[in-house]
Amino acid sequence: MNKTCSLRRLCNLHEYLIKQHRVIRYKSNTCNDLNSFVLYDKFICERRSQSKCSVLVQVSSENSISDLYSYCSKFGSIKNIFHYQLAGSNHFVLTEFEDQSAVNTLLDQSTHVKDSNVIAVRSPFLWFRSSASKKNSKLLSTDDKLNISFQTNQTMIEPNIKNIGLEKLDSLSDQMLLLLKCTQLNDIGTRLRFLTAMQIENSLKGIFPLSKVLPFGSSVNSFGKIGSDIDLVLMDSEIKENKTSRLIYHGKCVSNSRTQIQRNIEILGDLLQLFLPGCSRVKRISQARVPIVKYSQDFVGVECDLAVSNETAVNMSELLYIFGNFDYRVRPLVFTVKMWAREINLTNDTPGRWITNFSLTLLVLFYLQQEKIIPDIQTLVKQASNSDVRITNEGINCTFLRDVSKLHKDVENKKTLDQLLLGFFEYFATFDFNTNAISLNFGKTINKPEYSALYIVNPLEVHFNVSKNISSEEMERFRIELRNAAWIMESSLLNTNSFNLLDLFKGFDVNKKNQIVFEIQHQIKNSNRLVTVKDLFDDSQTQEDKRLT
Ligand code: GTP
Ligand code: MG
Repeated sequence: MNKTCSLRRLCNLHEYLIKQHRVIRYKSNTCNDLNSFVLYDKFICERRSQSKCSVLVQVSSENSISDLYSYCSKFGSIKNIFHYQLAGSNHFVLTEFEDQSAVNTLLDQSTHVKDSNVIAVRSPFLWFRSSASKKNSKLLSTDDKLNISFQTNQTMIEPNIKNIGLEKLDSLSDQMLLLLKCTQLNDIGTRLRFLTAMQIENSLKGIFPLSKVLPFGSSVNSFGKIGSDIDLVLMDSEIKENKTSRLIYHGKCVSNSRTQIQRNIEILGDLLQLFLPGCSRVKRISQARVPIVKYSQDFVGVECDLAVSNETAVNMSELLYIFGNFDYRVRPLVFTVKMWAREINLTNDTPGRWITNFSLTLLVLFYLQQEKIIPDIQTLVKQASNSDVRITNEGINCTFLRDVSKLHKDVENKKTLDQLLLGFFEYFATFDFNTNAISLNFGKTINKPEYSALYIVNPLEVHFNVSKNISSEEMERFRIELRNAAWIMESSLLNTNSFNLLDLFKGFDVNKKNQIVFEIQHQIKNSNRLVTVKDLFDDSQTQEDKRLT
């Protein structure tokens, strides 16, 4: 069976699905989400300000919140209170004040434990001593709740996707939106990530007053999930020299060599391990391509990776943030594909020879470029103004249009999320990974510059492949799973005209396949269908078998 024939049948199937499609209840008329677009810098700045006005207090139980509220109110007006519980029954209260000065006063007046074994450290992580009298032990009063925004029992642990009610929704698109809603990083999760960064930044303030610790990666790129790791970077000081000042700090010259970065990582590792509260299981990974310190922040219940001077990664996060906010379909599609990959064990929390969430995200974005739902990066580069110019200390050009609301125009593609999900699997199921490299910069494929099982051009460092880590075996597994996913969706949609996302996450069941093929054959006999799913599967399977032998 030749390739044109297979392609024609794929097109027929697609047309068939479009015609057969049920009415989708969600906002299919939304072309563009750019009306409400918030600039990345503004988003980061607001979250950093929030964290500067916040402290995290461990309390013995929910009943202490009222007592804590009245105690903390002495230091300034409280804006928000969030309560959450971590495994092991520890209760925490994130308290945000209206003003940063309240936090400074509160920290000045807080005390340390009088114990020669405990090092006195100033940090936004505290615990609340129970009152001698129990009279204050009560839940927050209704009056108090009226004055502030009070949110109790915040979700800190990713829910089990089997229990979020996906099966209750008929439409696959609705299921994808529900999956996003239930698993995406929530407000408290984002706040705690910025507070975690601020803990390290504050601890270095005395010696590096201008340095910042910024979250990057999925914590801020709009693709973060509850419980995903926190990627942090200690950024070099941004110095704006004051020419009028005649007193200048003495300083030491340090190189920005790899050896220096490795030494900095060792020092940061010591700081975290020896002095900073809540930081445990510290591991210095100084031999990695990007040296990092790994640790757990126990008060927040997440794993953290701290790097130094990785400005490009911060710009990469902004680029992904822009795409994630470009159209309402981007994030649910990325979340569903990442969840699919995790559930069928294509991805793994530990880095290795398998595809990463980062590569998967880029693949989805590339597919959406093919659908003309998001622009290619060249378009963003061409539209950049002077204020968008960013050249990193390592000389990497990260210039692209930041304020994409300026690109506001209707996206003609009105495909629904379920069409796009199937489209993603079909597109890559028949993609020639052997000769093609994926370039999001041009929004199209280019010839592979060198052999690699999967080649995705790094959007900001175009001479690098972001998926160099993937082995041929893992790539083969990925390709087979793409075909399986397309097959599972096609057969179910043709057969029952409905689809449960959980079926996709279960992976491929050979016995079920045979049964479905039989049912479809039977149906096709009684209708004039253009496509046979079995043919489609057998065709790709035959090609697969030929390739393997
Ligand atoms: P999750 O943590 O899985 O939710 O996604 P993530 O995007 O945060 O991935 P990860 O923590 O692995 O990496 C954090 C960031 O580092 C990514 O968002 C990228 O910006 C960058 N990164 C990760 N892997 C690579 C890679 O292979 N090459 C390059 N250049 N950057 C990478
Ligand atoms: Mg991450």
